[in-house]
Amino acid sequence: MTELSPVTEATATKAPAPKKLAVPDTQTVTSVQHWTDRLFSFRVTRPASLRFRSGEFVMIGLMQTDEKTGKEKPLLRAYSIASPSWDEELEFYSIKVQDGPLTSRLQHIQPGDEIILRPKPVGTLVHDALLPGKRLWLFATGTGIAPFASLLRDPQTYEDYEEVILTHTCREVGELQYGKELIDQIRTDELLAELMGEGFHEKLRYYPTTTREESPKMGRITDLMRCGECFEDLGVPELSPETDRAMVCGNLAFNLEIKEMLEGYGLEEGANSDPKQYVVEKAFLD
Ligand SMILES: Cc1cc2nc3c(=O)[nH]c(=O)nc-3n(C[C@H](O)[C@H](O)[C@H](O)COP(=O)(O)OP(=O)(O)OC[C@H]3O[C@@H](n4cnc5c(N)ncnc54)[C@H](O)[C@@H]3O)c2cc1C
Ligand SMILES: NC(=O)c1ccc[n+]([C@@H]2O[C@H](COP(=O)([O-])OP(=O)(O)OC[C@H]3O[C@@H](n4cnc5c(N)ncnc54)[C@H](OP(=O)(O)O)[C@@H]3O)[C@@H](O)[C@H]2O)c1
Repeated sequence: MTELSPVTEATATKAPAPKKLAVPDTQTVTSVQHWTDRLFSFRVTRPASLRFRSGEFVMIGLMQTDEKTGKEKPLLRAYSIASPSWDEELEFYSIKVQDGPLTSRLQHIQPGDEIILRPKPVGTLVHDALLPGKRLWLFATGTGIAPFASLLRDPQTYEDYEEVILTHTCREVGELQYGKELIDQIRTDELLAELMGEGFHEKLRYYPTTTREESPKMGRITDLMRCGECFEDLGVPELSPETDRAMVCGNLAFNLEIKEMLEGYGLEEGANSDPKQYVVEKAFLD
């Protein structure tokens, strides 16, 4: 990581000290889109040196004043990169927590503003952590769709699997909109079609559900799997360790519940260093 020095050697000796210290690792916001009063997405410039694997997360944030010392310091939070690794910008999909230290302020960013981005991508929701399989399940709740927005725009996802199923469970219909537009874009964008390869459209399945507002498919994905409705709707069998691979990203309770279900189907949890049949990451810390 390149930490920008607040003053260069030349300015340190010849120029007067700058009034404002340069902030390390800043990137410029290029666009912002608000989806609901609790959700927004934004794009920022990408550091030229940043290489990442689709599905990974980085630390991003803003400067804040330390109440005790009065000094400026970075306030950082983990964020999944929602854009694919080939994109020249970086996209993020974010919650707005009204009293959240970061997002109470981050939700007000505008194009041209700067954010801090530490260019050290990490994470387990990557292809490398899974053994080869036929069908890839991406199970998301809420903002947990963010890493999958990256993976679903990565050609490798369609090269590696015959079928890719995204399930997204949210409380309300409006919270599904980012995912819905993402899927529409993937299905209609000519550049993406060129990148993804022949026939990738048929491989992509989308299964959105809501739990607190009426929509065409209601219920928690876990319940819909348990009663078999999800498999019936999609026309696929229950998961099996021979054919199916899964990535999970949601709240803690969801992650724990679906983990137990996946283990029940016979799938084992993998990691970067030990690829297996499924991987899990928290969408946020409770
Ligand atoms: C590996 C990882 C990846 C993450 N990726 C994303 C991402 O892509 N997008 C994103 O919005 N957040 C993501 N988060 C959560 C993020 O790090 C922050 O918690 C979030 O930005 C809120 O920050 P805050 O300082 O405003 O509030 P915090 O003090 O961090 O959180 C306050 C409370 O708000 C709730 N909360 C926090 N984040 C969320 C969320 N995403 N959805 C619903 N409730 C939440 C929790 O109850 C939490 O206790 C991720 C977290 C982890 C651990
Ligand atoms: N979304 C909102 O409109 C809203 C509004 C104000 C405040 N909040 C607060 O914000 C925080 C995060 O809310 P959120 O809606 O973004 O995320 P969330 O509470 O994680 O819920 C997202 C989705 O996951 C489902 N879910 C939760 N636990 C599950 C489990 N064990 N198995 C399967 N599905 C599960 C929820 O269904 P269920 O609905 O059945 O739980 C919901 O559809 C919460 O603390 C909440 O109180 C949310």
